[in-house]
Amino acid sequence: MAEASLYERLGGYEGIVAFTNDLLPRMQADPQLGRFWKNRGEDGMAREHQLLIDYLCASAGGSMYYTGRNMKLTHKGMKISEGDWSIFLEHAGATMKALHVPKQECDDVAAFVTSLKPDIVEA
Ligand code: HEM
Repeated sequence: MAEASLYERLGGYEGIVAFTNDLLPRMQADPQLGRFWKNRGEDGMAREHQLLIDYLCASAGGSMYYTGRNMKLTHKGMKISEGDWSIFLEHAGATMKALHVPKQECDDVAAFVTSLKPDIVEA
């Protein structure tokens, strides 16, 4: 039998929604990262949240068509630094711990996210 996709192993759509529901408020409330979401409207935030869900589902092997922008274009000009990235990794780790994501899946998510770093960190 073929190995289950990361999407399935993370609990499918609901698992990924739970991940973003936990992670985004941590990022937005963070004293250093909060600046990226300052003064944004509710609808814009909700759209961006949905795009993050879609992106993660599609990237993890779910049957989802991602209609957003690629990671380089999306984050270009935000000046996300190495320090910002380290804080993001801490929050992502805390989210996976809070949701009791198993070790193998934590490692797979970390490897995927790390592969995106050169497109996201620019300062
Ligand atoms: C320090 C880390 C990060 C920060 C501060 C950050 C910040 C942001 C902000 C402020 C937006 C809204 C952009 C806009 O409205 O124009 C955004 C959009 C987005 N981010 Fe990030 N991001 C980070 C890491 C990531 C990572 C690791 C991923 C993927 C796993 C990701 C995926 C996305 C997606 C899919 C969008 C929406 C794309 C679109 O609007 O077309 N981000 N990010």
